Amino acid sequence: MELRTPRLRLDALHPADAAALFAYRADPVVARYQGWVPASLAEAAQFIDDLPAEPLPGRWFQWAIRVPEDGRLIGDLGVCLDGRRQATFGISLAPAQQGRGLAQEALQEVLGWLFGAMDVHRVHASVDPRNLASMGLLARLGLRQEALHRQSYWFCGEWADDAVFAMLVSEWRARVANGPVAACTR
Ligand SMILES: CC(C)(COP(=O)(O)OP(=O)(O)OC[C@H]1O[C@@H](n2cnc3c(N)ncnc32)[C@H](O)[C@@H]1OP(=O)(O)O)[C@@H](O)C(=O)NCCC(=O)NCCS
Repeated sequence: MELRTPRLRLDALHPADAAALFAYRADPVVARYQGWVPASLAEAAQFIDDLPAEPLPGRWFQWAIRVPEDGRLIGDLGVCLDGRRQATFGISLAPAQQGRGLAQEALQEVLGWLFGAMDVHRVHASVDPRNLASMGLLARLGLRQEALHRQSYWFCGEWADDAVFAMLVSEWRARVANGPVAACTR
């Protein structure tokens, strides 16, 4: 499986990606609000080994986000389908690649894949509201904030809030019809 955008190639993570994955996933800037942070290169390699080769209900499938010219790994985008036409996702970019609109570009493509080829009815994502880059990204993509669960989970030694964002296939179609996708290729 492969997806293309003007500046990115998305495909599967391979064992050879372990060092790059470990480098950015263990970076404190990327790790701050993540549930999984690799403690070692071996743990990053194991993470890749354990991934399913294709999306399966109830399992996280991880898209590799690559520079098309040389195939370099610069981020990853996880999606989890529940088998009942709902999906959740999470995205990480290497710090040097942030602030260029690449996360928006990758997610725009993956949302199209979820609502199209995967026939998903609703996507949702959970984010710590202090994660301003992520909050901004979800809003730019047109997801609606549906809930703010106050102090709903224990994270890194404190109770954390959980903001829930979602989008329906009907909202996606209306958005595509109105042409907002152009915003990520300016
Ligand atoms: C969440 C994350 C992926 C967002 O990455 P990002 O690069 O900020 O997101 P976008 O792709 O939407 O880029 C937006 C920024 O690029 C800028 N930009 C530059 N060129 C752009 C372009 N061509 N198109 C759109 N935006 C562009 C925007 O102005 C914006 O900058 P700003 O935040 O200073 O206003 C990133 O912060 C990250 O990896 N965080 C760590 C992991 C994490 O917490 N993930 C969320 C858990 S679900």
